Amino acid sequence: MYRDPVESLESLHSRPALNRTLRVGMIGIGTVGSGTFRVLVRNQADIAARAGRAIELVIVAARNLARAAGIVGEGVALTADPMQVAAHPDVDVVVEVAGGTGPARDWVLAAIAHGKHVVTANKALLAVHGAEIFAAARKQGVAVAYEGAVAVSIPIVKALREGLAANRIEWVAGIINGTSNFILSKMRDEGLDFAAALAQAQALGYAEADPSFDIEGIDAAHKLSLLAANAFGMPLRFADVQVEGITALQELDVACAEQLGYRIKLLGVARRQASGVELRVQPALVPATHLMAQVNGSMNAVMVKSDAAGLTMYYGAGAGSEQTASAVIADLVDVARLDGVNAAQHVPHLGVHEHATNALAVLPRAAVHTSHYLRVPVRAVSQIQAVTACLAEQKVPVRQVALAAERPGIGPQVLVLTGPVAQGTLDLSVHALQARSEVAGVVATLCVELLEG
Ligand code: HSE
Repeated sequence: MYRDPVESLESLHSRPALNRTLRVGMIGIGTVGSGTFRVLVRNQADIAARAGRAIELVIVAARNLARAAGIVGEGVALTADPMQVAAHPDVDVVVEVAGGTGPARDWVLAAIAHGKHVVTANKALLAVHGAEIFAAARKQGVAVAYEGAVAVSIPIVKALREGLAANRIEWVAGIINGTSNFILSKMRDEGLDFAAALAQAQALGYAEADPSFDIEGIDAAHKLSLLAANAFGMPLRFADVQVEGITALQELDVACAEQLGYRIKLLGVARRQASGVELRVQPALVPATHLMAQVNGSMNAVMVKSDAAGLTMYYGAGAGSEQTASAVIADLVDVARLDGVNAAQHVPHLGVHEHATNALAVLPRAAVHTSHYLRVPVRAVSQIQAVTACLAEQKVPVRQVALAAERPGIGPQVLVLTGPVAQGTLDLSVHALQARSEVAGVVATLCVELLEG
């Protein structure tokens, strides 16, 4: 007899609970922690049905106990000491949502040493201390799950490790910082200035405690190192990510990109090349007609190019309280279902695979091949040919040349789109351009990403 392989929620509800309650200790009850508590309570029955058992918050560590009591009410123990949560005998899994890298490392390692599974949305912690944390977890046979750490609401870690498990991943690229995307969208669509847009992102709870992590591309680099480790089976290489944020981006380039039919997005790109892996976060031109260009506000999107599935794309909220809670609780459900089985089988312990691909080197900046946009200020419109001649001398392939639309107070600008060229070659050509008498100011360059097969 044919049976629907997808179990309905009703049949899950009618199934007897398999095990005892999964008891959660939480460190931090800020934006993500409070959202996690709200969703756990609101969707309690469905979550328990999916997890096969109840999931209950038993203790919370918070800096401000009165505020924490206001959020969780009675029935949840409170402590000011996160180590009490890490070591608590009644806790099966520690949810670390306090953020930061120093003390959070100690709490997580202590939890692991006490045999607790760990769920965290702390991308900085994993990017910086992940190798040590995953090694400790593997030794203890516990899971460290982190879906909420990358593109919060989008189950991209699951997509890479489960949905695309059959594939050789060629590249992963996306908008993986909600705050910077929100700022770029507000500036473009509403004419808001940078500071006002950032203040709004902070008020909405999107930004990191130190928002320079968002606007300087560091948060996206944390996430990119996790994506690359999942996609390519390589160790976490945060320190090797080429990082450029949005603070130096000029409105003039946003307008010139639009004139050429492109939008500028802060992209994280991890791509295999023959001789290594590119890991970079930078503002890049994306064709205005591409789906990635339609990702606005605090939304995130990740594209994956793999050999069997081809191009796939994932879209969802990239920041927010319950949006992150959704991922944190999905990890709790995973932990509830795997508790008792070999955790190493379930959530990959990143950075500790003895896998051939561990040998993948991160390419130095000069060796990265990509197309580029150049904006060259010149003394006169007639000097467009001096620009193209200089690029030809430097063996930079030129795809398109145009003059920027005239703007009051701004001299003539030659716009160039190149074909793929090594960054090192492009740097030399910019140097050569800069030395030409026809060039009247600083040459601006940005990468162009077509994001196609
Ligand atoms: N500050 C982060 C962002 C939060 O804006 O993407 C989610 O990781």
